[in-house]
Amino acid sequence: MMSWFAEESITTFQKFCINVIKCGPIPKHIAFIMDGNRRYATKTNVQKAEGHLKGFEKLAECLEWCRELGIREVTVYAFSIENFKRSKEEVETLMGLAREKFQKLLEEKDRLMKEGVCIRVIGNLSLLPEDLQELITKAMLLTKDNNRSILNVAFSYTSRDEIIHSIKTVIEGVTNDDISIDDIDEELLSSCLYMHKSPNPDILIRTSGEVRLSDFLLWQLSGTEIYFTDVLWPEFCIWHLLGCVFKYQRSVFSSKQLSHQKSNSERSPIVDAFLQKVENTRLTRSIIKA
Ligand code: FPP
Ligand code: MG
Repeated sequence: MMSWFAEESITTFQKFCINVIKCGPIPKHIAFIMDGNRRYATKTNVQKAEGHLKGFEKLAECLEWCRELGIREVTVYAFSIENFKRSKEEVETLMGLAREKFQKLLEEKDRLMKEGVCIRVIGNLSLLPEDLQELITKAMLLTKDNNRSILNVAFSYTSRDEIIHSIKTVIEGVTNDDISIDDIDEELLSSCLYMHKSPNPDILIRTSGEVRLSDFLLWQLSGTEIYFTDVLWPEFCIWHLLGCVFKYQRSVFSSKQLSHQKSNSERSPIVDAFLQKVENTRLTRSIIKA
């Protein structure tokens, strides 16, 4: 069964090109909207499920390219809350694929720990089947202290749901008198998002010719370079990725301005205590789930 670690898919010439690109600034965080799996299935005359499987295999390959390039953090849109509206059969297929792959991930524990990979699933997990929630929580707890390489899988995610969740957390804090209305600012809302631990992405790539954000990371993309490419996700190759990173480097050089990042200003002890409480609640909930 295809693993999360693609092996030896990079040729010597590609390695050489990667090393050339690595002489320039490398994005710290890159996000992908992996679109076009079903069109790929139609184009190559295979079942939709096979198209999604090919999509997963491409993800594993792409993670290897990113590791080789020295990109520390990758975020991928694997399943939108909107995707629940697809046919029952397709939703089942995608849940089945996720089940299989998160199970596989747990089996690859030694490799994950050796490579220092941290997996975070961002999204509204309560909408997922119980057994899948458990698998996901186990994978997150297992890898939570790893920090060499971070993979955020947006699964059962939309940005608007993420923002609503953050607002609810803040309102609870105000209602419980942990914080006051005056403590509410951009940074506090950012700290309550599913993606609160991540810097904003430097690059977003969407495949398959669709020119939309589809409710992905709307809060986090305000300073991100966005690249749309016509290639279908299962056909995405290392040259597309290197092309985007190269364009990003040119734009960094010409604007001399790195992407808009969260500020690191001092937080009040009151807000800190509230955020610590939120984090502890999250952790306790996951431990119970796992
Ligand atoms: C978009 O193509 C792709 C998806 C909705 C699913 C993406 C999932 C994967 C690549 C597998 C990842 C799995 C895990 C467990 C991380 P589409 O279905 O919208 O295709 P279309 O645009 O051609 O209709
Ligand atoms: Mg699509």
